[in-house]
Amino acid sequence: MDKKTTIQEIARLRTEKNAVVLAHYYTDSDIQDIADFVGDSLALAQWAAKTDASILVMCGVGFMAETCKILCPQKKVLIPDTEAGCSLADSCQVADLRRFVDEHPGFKVISYVNTTAGVKALSDVVVTSSNARKIVDSYPQDEKLIFGPDRNLGDYINKQTGRQMLLWQGGCHVHSHFSADEILRLRSEHPNAEVLVHPECPTEIQELADRIGSTADLLRYSLSSPSDEFIVGTESGVIHKMRQASPGKQFYPVGDVCGYMRLNTLEKLYQALLTESPEVVVDPELAAKAILPINKMLALS
Ligand code: 13P
Ligand code: SF4
Repeated sequence: MDKKTTIQEIARLRTEKNAVVLAHYYTDSDIQDIADFVGDSLALAQWAAKTDASILVMCGVGFMAETCKILCPQKKVLIPDTEAGCSLADSCQVADLRRFVDEHPGFKVISYVNTTAGVKALSDVVVTSSNARKIVDSYPQDEKLIFGPDRNLGDYINKQTGRQMLLWQGGCHVHSHFSADEILRLRSEHPNAEVLVHPECPTEIQELADRIGSTADLLRYSLSSPSDEFIVGTESGVIHKMRQASPGKQFYPVGDVCGYMRLNTLEKLYQALLTESPEVVVDPELAAKAILPINKMLALS
């Protein structure tokens, strides 16, 4: 099928089946352009929690689809490619976290949304990069906290809040490999550009930033800033929405795309809607535990 027909078929199936397509900013621009909703991790969870569609197709990665299923247990949640994982979520295995928690009695666990349902079930609250600071601030200053799995985000929040949360030493293979030298090179080529950076980037990259934020925050910032040029230190998929929001501005990517996110294609999305598979399944007992810290996050956001 050609691209135009695939898009028409996706639209037909969506209406017929009362289905919605959710997409993260890191997905391919073709997917973003036809999605019912495009957002960052927090907005995707908030949107999933309130849609009345019967089927949700999550064009993102596994933890996002799992979070949708936990929030919408009665709905069918599909993911176009089950191989769409997340190296950051993989960097924190449930058994390892359980051991770490047992070694630190009295500590509460704050988990980034980029985690499995099993890790969420061990957590007091879930955060995203959009709300991490606010949620950490909601705990008394002397509360003993473990933050994971992203060490760079944890380090950033520690500096922002003046805390010393114990940090899980995990990371994202995309953001941790961005290079400070590449940013310096881009900055010398484009001296008027502002540097936008996701908090999953290492400290030496964060130190070069004019703005540190979640994908949604960086998008909003690029729109409201008087600058005309931006060096973008996060997955370059977000540049599609930045260009649409600010057509006159220039955006320069720092590094590579997330191969997991790019497994989402129009063809796989069409097949998922047609066959209503692969379906995301979360053990109901686990989901009943994992929803508590997710709902706590939504209430605090
Ligand atoms: P956001 O919450 O900023 O969308 O980030 C999600 C993510 O996976 C970053 O790598
Ligand atoms: Fe996970 Fe990194 Fe991809 Fe985000 S960019 S989904 S953290 S692997």
